[in-house]
Amino acid sequence: MAQDLKPSDCIASDRIYCALDTVDVGKAVRLARTLRGKVGGIKLGLEFFCANGADGFSRVADAGLPIFLDLKFHDIPNTVAGAIRAVAPLAPKLFTIHTQGGPEMMRRAADAAAEEAAKHGHTKPWVIGVSVLTSLDGSDLHAIGVSDSVDTQVGRLAALAQENGLDGLVCSPREITLARNATDDAFKLIVPGIRPMGSAVGDQKRVMTPADAVQAGADILVIGRPITGAEDPAAAAQTIADSING
Ligand code: C5P
Repeated sequence: MAQDLKPSDCIASDRIYCALDTVDVGKAVRLARTLRGKVGGIKLGLEFFCANGADGFSRVADAGLPIFLDLKFHDIPNTVAGAIRAVAPLAPKLFTIHTQGGPEMMRRAADAAAEEAAKHGHTKPWVIGVSVLTSLDGSDLHAIGVSDSVDTQVGRLAALAQENGLDGLVCSPREITLARNATDDAFKLIVPGIRPMGSAVGDQKRVMTPADAVQAGADILVIGRPITGAEDPAAAAQTIADSING
């Protein structure tokens, strides 16, 4: 499995996490079963978890693929640590918190994840930071009192995340290089906004192909509609993995 991914030592399909952006548990379970062996894991987000909670998570996880739980926790350190303890029994492979919660929040999140994994006898999940949401641009940052550019802020938050015990960062394809330059190779870059050659871009503004993203330094590719919207999702995932292998 994709425990410590490096460009040379991991099979391409392990890098692909398929985003199941749905509230329909039955549909999510069917897709997760179909994709077993074709992708490295499944991403479940706020939409799915708010609708279906821990039970829905477990039903998808029962398909046998690792789960990326993308809930983007952001609160005072004590509350974030408590939320992490609450989801720890589900044993997600990775989950997200906002780096803008600050250094202490990040440290407490990393500590809570490690403590709970040890307590439950699980592998420690990757605690992944969210930096500047891609829905925000420079003028949005200025409006909330951040005078630096988006790129400068992403680089700063990436470095801060690694310094404070996080395992990686979610970043857009165009931020891969600057996040990589701000951190070392052990720090994982989780990258959405991926589109195979010739597939519909949809509402994604800045996209990159799977092969280019891996070449640029992405560890995990989060891919939704190009797989879930395909007539044959397993075949679509296989084609994407093959395209990474070149
Ligand atoms: O269907 P698509 O491949 O665009 O799905 C990408 C997934 O990655 C969705 O779950 C989306 O919410 C998520 N995501 C994103 N861009 C970000 C952060 C997360 O597309 N900046």
